[in-house]
Amino acid sequence: MIVVGISGASGPILGIRLIEELLNSGEKVAAIVSKPACQIIEYEIFREEPPFSSFSSLKELLAVRGLSENHDLLSEFNNNDFFAPVASGSTKFKAMVVIPCSMKTLSAIVHGYADSLITRTCDVALKERRRCIIVPRETPLSVVHTGNLHRAALAGIEIVPPVPGFYTRPESVEDVVNFIVGKVLNLLGYDHDLFESWGKKKR
Ligand SMILES: Cc1cc2nc3c(=O)[nH]c(=O)nc-3n(C[C@H](O)[C@H](O)[C@H](O)COP(=O)(O)O)c2cc1C
Repeated sequence: MIVVGISGASGPILGIRLIEELLNSGEKVAAIVSKPACQIIEYEIFREEPPFSSFSSLKELLAVRGLSENHDLLSEFNNNDFFAPVASGSTKFKAMVVIPCSMKTLSAIVHGYADSLITRTCDVALKERRRCIIVPRETPLSVVHTGNLHRAALAGIEIVPPVPGFYTRPESVEDVVNFIVGKVLNLLGYDHDLFESWGKKKR
């Protein structure tokens, strides 16, 4: 099982694509979407304007996007639900990925401020010496942000900034999203065809 936290940074589509790829690989996913992330999903994906109301379930969103199989591999948890299995080290998930990771959630993770299920599960991953991967999204970065990223690296958190490689010659936002999600899948060790590895293309 991989735990995927979607926090309230721009680019929740990154987390959604990752969940789709993991489910398509036959992996179990426990998903946690923060409240700000729900609103950003409404704004960026459904192109709604505030006040928001309709987004409530990842399963519904994935169905709209055409993923009908493997839904039984997906479980969703409220970000306030500390009774969720992943809030405890006794649940043996393989890795925690926060994608995208807001600067607020980054700050909470590196200071052990576990006041949400996403930050608590990161806390669990760190104390149990399990993989913890973040995709921190902000630009430009302040010294507060870079300091927190440094703390994250020292704690053994793997940092995948959502920075596209232009050498793959992306033609769409989807290409850029796939590149970043592919980088996370590479770290986790899943095969994918989201982008060509360098040198693979016949010249
Ligand atoms: C449309 C929108 C985009 C945002 N993008 C970012 C972002 O890219 N990075 C960031 O750190 N915060 C961003 N924020 C602010 C966070 O949502 C805010 O700090 C929130 O408290 C994060 O809470 P969470 O990490 O618990 O989800 C954005 C907010 C909105 C409304």
